[in-house]
Amino acid sequence: MTKQYANIVVSDTQTPNGLPILKGSIGPDAVDVRTLLGRQNLLTYDPGFRSTASCESAITYIDGEAGQLLYRGYPIEELATRCGFSEVAHLLMYGELPASEQLSGFQCKINEYNLLHDQVLSFYHGFRRDAHPMAVMVGVVGALSAFYQDSQDYSRDEDQHKAAIRLVAKMPAIAAASYTYSIGRPIRHPDNNLDYASNFLQMMFGKPNEPYHVDPVLARAIEMIFILHADHEQNASTSTVRMAASSGANPFACVASGIATLWGPAHGGANEAVLTMLEDIGSPDRIPEIVRRAKDKNDPFRLMGFGHRVYRNYDPRAALIRDTTRQVLAHLGMENSPLMATALELERVALEDDYFIEKKLYPNVDFYSGILLRAMGFPSRMFTAVFAVARTVGWVSHWLELKQQAGHGIDRPRQLYTGPTLRHLDK
Ligand code: ACO
Repeated sequence: MTKQYANIVVSDTQTPNGLPILKGSIGPDAVDVRTLLGRQNLLTYDPGFRSTASCESAITYIDGEAGQLLYRGYPIEELATRCGFSEVAHLLMYGELPASEQLSGFQCKINEYNLLHDQVLSFYHGFRRDAHPMAVMVGVVGALSAFYQDSQDYSRDEDQHKAAIRLVAKMPAIAAASYTYSIGRPIRHPDNNLDYASNFLQMMFGKPNEPYHVDPVLARAIEMIFILHADHEQNASTSTVRMAASSGANPFACVASGIATLWGPAHGGANEAVLTMLEDIGSPDRIPEIVRRAKDKNDPFRLMGFGHRVYRNYDPRAALIRDTTRQVLAHLGMENSPLMATALELERVALEDDYFIEKKLYPNVDFYSGILLRAMGFPSRMFTAVFAVARTVGWVSHWLELKQQAGHGIDRPRQLYTGPTLRHLDK
């Protein structure tokens, strides 16, 4: 008898070999293969998890064919245009949009926990100033596991929620400090008169010798980036966080493993790679050559910011970021940005090309976010760090969810072994 979770419905029909079929609330059904090995001595083989539901989750839903993304049932377009980041963070972490007292309570908690411990600040001096911000963040966030000894009983709801809030509250300061340290500017503290997004901007760009005035257009743009990147169901970094958490590991260590995974150029590192690619292209005349290279099987080059494991349609986040990028460029008097012109032309050419049409490759969230962040003054090495700040909400939401799923147990995939069969030493 296998364990069932409360929200899964078992279908009346089974597979021809008698395996149960499970139903979620929307999306494809799933074959429950948990008894397969015991009953038929068979494993399922799915490297890269292309057809595998690794867990039950009620946080985010993606319909890749339709290009639809829902957080707790709400379309991303509605959340991104009508909500603030704290509301969306509350929704993801606790399941519902907050009423006004809940929202102010949530923001008070963020403000209570957003300072970095003085000893955490001292870690920065152990890093080289030219270190990649993501390398620094992996180290600093992992090191938070060594703090908060009084609230590390993660079987208790109270300690779970405290850790989750601490991570969300501190991540902007951790990311901003990894930048200010790299340029030799004093690390800035959060200002509790500012909202989450504005605070991040002042910690990134404020100087000790002059007041920092938050530009509301830029603050809204960074808030939009945070909302759009906050969660994306079982992506590589979130799956990593969940897998680490399944062993009962410390939440700060789990999130550090998510940051490490996000860093890769096939995942969150793509936004940095897109900008490098657009700068290398230089002008729209070189686009045909770049598209030719992307299609060449013998060339490892890929069009960065294009394609997605789940979306076989336009990534809805890319469309929202493209619009925000246009607004910010206009606001900053940069309407004629050559990077934007190159990106728009590259998108146009690729979307008319048979290779991209047949393989259903569309711009993903990273395609325009680099141009937007660059226009706002972020150096490209910080792009993935900004993504990590946003995704922390998703990571802790999944961590909290997993903590509530008592029947999940430790994640322990099997393998299709292809090494030597039994042999013995001949000496
Ligand atoms: N440029 C050119 N060809 C591509 C691209 C691309 N960007 N993406 C996929 N393809 C091709 C592959 O070569 C493959 O061709 P084949 O069937 O002839 O072998 C086919 O499309 C399917 O590609 P896969 O690698 O199997 O797709 P997968 O789902 O594993 O990869 C990924 C998705 C990693 C996002 C891929 O599209 C990619 O590398 N894109 C560029 C990097 C990027 O933008 N990453 C950000 C993803 S979004 C995020 O993490 C926030």
